[in-house]
Amino acid sequence: MRPAELTITRTTTPKEKPNWDQLQFGRVFSDHMFVMDYEEGRGWYDARIVPFGNFEMSPASLVFHYGQTVFEGLKAYKGEDGSIALFRPEQNMKRMNDSNERLSMPNFDSEFVIDAMKQLVALDADWIPPRDGMALYLRPVMFATDAFLGVAPSKTYRFIVMTSPVGAYYEGGMSPVKIAVENEYVRAVKGGTGAAKTAGNYAGAMKAQEVADQEGYDQVLWLDGREQKYIEEVGAMNVFFKVNGEIITPALNGSILPGVTRQSVIQLLKHWDMPITERRISIEELHEAYVRGELEEAFGTGTAAVISPIGELYWKDEHMYINDGEIGPVAQKLYDAITGIQEGKIEDPFGWRNIIK
Ligand code: COI
Repeated sequence: MRPAELTITRTTTPKEKPNWDQLQFGRVFSDHMFVMDYEEGRGWYDARIVPFGNFEMSPASLVFHYGQTVFEGLKAYKGEDGSIALFRPEQNMKRMNDSNERLSMPNFDSEFVIDAMKQLVALDADWIPPRDGMALYLRPVMFATDAFLGVAPSKTYRFIVMTSPVGAYYEGGMSPVKIAVENEYVRAVKGGTGAAKTAGNYAGAMKAQEVADQEGYDQVLWLDGREQKYIEEVGAMNVFFKVNGEIITPALNGSILPGVTRQSVIQLLKHWDMPITERRISIEELHEAYVRGELEEAFGTGTAAVISPIGELYWKDEHMYINDGEIGPVAQKLYDAITGIQEGKIEDPFGWRNIIK
């Protein structure tokens, strides 16, 4: 169900823009945000674009205690011709409603929210960084607001979309990252919430991430939660490997996040007639391929990370150095195609750019 209308209140105190040349990921926010509220029996109401700012919540709000919340990440780009577009927002909205379903949270009308996001980006268009490889990141987030300590789905929710001008997700930009395979902790299990974009998946991953960081690794590679044998994802990215000419990505199995960039990469590879297989792949199989000299490339995919080459994988005292720590040709080709389409520099054969203006 959609609210009756969307109201817009402009800020009277626009903020200074950041130094575009020193932009990091997710540290500054634009002037406005979208907000709407939900109440059982009433549906979504009071949809509004208002100045970005803090708001009050009860300390008893259900989200603080039981984590009933979902989020998304998507980007807006300025094209060379001055046009502004969102990249595949319908995919993010669909996934957010799938996450809502898993977390016993209410659905929303995707078209209404996409339209609201377009109005928000149009209003804050001067927050889209005027640099190649940068974008305005949109972060929709929805959370339970009932002031109630019982464990039950909330009857009230708030939905927000904030926007943040962003540079590369990793400090090194599009340069190969070092990933440690996680052997102790697990991220998700079959039947759990791994396929939903919900805070608990990320909170539970931080311990392993912290240890990896102390050991000089950028992220961890998660193995399946049951046998700790099959490769799942990196946490902020899905993952692809090129083994002896074949590009392989773990098949979606209910505990892996169905990434929008993952899906776009698969579609592009098929479009180019390159061999792409979605299947189960174990860390042993990958290691054996490495030993045979057949692990040609590895890279992660994600909205924030775009295409992120993996230069080193560390697993049980084995350092697997991939493509001499250089960006591989498939990762480069995909990066150029995806950012080229996003920034309107090359043809968009799939209609992925959702034009705002
Ligand atoms: C994204 O790629 O948009 C994500 O949500 C990953 C991460 C920043 C949590």
